[in-house]
Amino acid sequence: MRKRQVLKHSIAIVSMLVCVCCFFIVSVTVFKLPEAPRKDRQMGFYPTIRSRKVSLQDFNLGKFGEMMIDMLPQDLAFTVFVPSEDAFKRDLRLSVSDSLKPDKFNDTYAIVTRILGFSAVPRILSSANVQSGELVNYDSLSGFPLYVSKDIDGMLVVNRIRSEIVDVRKKEIVVHVMDGVIMDAEFEQSVLAEDDTEED
Ligand SMILES: *[C@@H]1O[C@H](CO)[C@@H](O)[C@H](O)[C@H]1NC(C)=O
Repeated sequence: MRKRQVLKHSIAIVSMLVCVCCFFIVSVTVFKLPEAPRKDRQMGFYPTIRSRKVSLQDFNLGKFGEMMIDMLPQDLAFTVFVPSEDAFKRDLRLSVSDSLKPDKFNDTYAIVTRILGFSAVPRILSSANVQSGELVNYDSLSGFPLYVSKDIDGMLVVNRIRSEIVDVRKKEIVVHVMDGVIMDAEFEQSVLAEDDTEED
């Protein structure tokens, strides 16, 4: 009689343990779900929310941006501050419809190569690596000094150029899309001068 009661108790305890475990697993799974990308941007207060982990496969970098990334080895850590397509057009007069034509392709490729030299650093630098209020300094691939800071809304600013999208990943490469082109004054002058002679 006693043995049977003990057995009953053990069964009850085991079933309760199983229930508790199940509940635990379910709640952990459920509570993890809200971490999926959120659309609401809480400007200012929680800067890290804006650093979305976007994969480059689902993201259109634009022709020139893709050209830049394709020039790098895909399995080494790099961070590239890629100009947006608008910035390529506005600041370098490069347009997808015109600058990729066979007679202009070589010049375009040379310009994009130089821009890559100014805007890539051989290390991972995601927006989370920069504290707001901090100014960090890295040399680009071509030795151009980059001063990186973070705005109050979590976006990176490099040499006073603001990012539009941060933390896009492609394998080992981190891409930040910039609303401008990072380049030294000399190169900027040469690009604009060339453009003037072409238009005259
Ligand atoms: C572009 O470069 C390639 C290889 O260097 C060369 O064969 C070709 O003639 C160049 N095209 C123009 C339009 O200069």
